[in-house]
Amino acid sequence: MLFKKYATLTLVAIQKSTFCPTSIRHSILVYLGWTIGENCAVMPGSAPVINNVTLEDGAHLGPNTLLDDHAGITIGKDTRLGPNSIILTRTHPINATIPRRIRGQDIDLPVIVGRGCWIGAHVVILPGVRIGEGCVVGAGSVVTKSTEPNGLYVGNPAKRIKDLETDEPKPTA
Ligand SMILES: CC(C)(COP(=O)(O)OP(=O)(O)OC[C@H]1O[C@@H](n2cnc3c(N)ncnc32)[C@H](O)[C@@H]1OP(=O)(O)O)[C@@H](O)C(=O)NCCC(=O)NCCS
Repeated sequence: MLFKKYATLTLVAIQKSTFCPTSIRHSILVYLGWTIGENCAVMPGSAPVINNVTLEDGAHLGPNTLLDDHAGITIGKDTRLGPNSIILTRTHPINATIPRRIRGQDIDLPVIVGRGCWIGAHVVILPGVRIGEGCVVGAGSVVTKSTEPNGLYVGNPAKRIKDLETDEPKPTA
């Protein structure tokens, strides 16, 4: 059990390194439990917690992304995460107890980032959020609620400030 834990930590450390070739990084992550589609790229420094991550085809994780993947994290097809982005899936109740954060009281909610999004650098996405397809999230934003598709969201909390055009045909009624 202890051996498995340290073997996993060692593999996570190896794949984080700048010196680890991308193909080896991907192989390590798949061995650890990730699902990685075709033409994906995981840049150095990306850190998972329990390897509960799915990258759809063409997904791209920038350097030093932190994936707090206690519940599943799915990055949609052709979606790109900028450097130092953080996706959180775990939170804790803040009820009338002191200390506020009691060990073992965890609420785990999956995060899904839809197809064709661009998540800027230093974005934080909170547990349970679903980013609609085709969204752009500006650098440094904190996404506290799910977003509708094809919007530009910026700020803390992130708000929709622009509808984004798409070259895809509109669905027929
Ligand atoms: C969002 C972004 C793409 C700009 O889009 P844009 O359509 O050109 O938007 P504008 O520059 O016209 O800004 C529109 C408004 O949003 C604000 N805004 C833009 N980006 C913002 C951000 N990240 N956080 C908060 N507000 C932002 C602007 O100040 C402006 O506000 P105003 O109308 O009150 O003046 C860009 O600002 C950004 O954040 N890019 C991410 C860069 C990055 O992370 N790169 C990493 C490489 S993957």
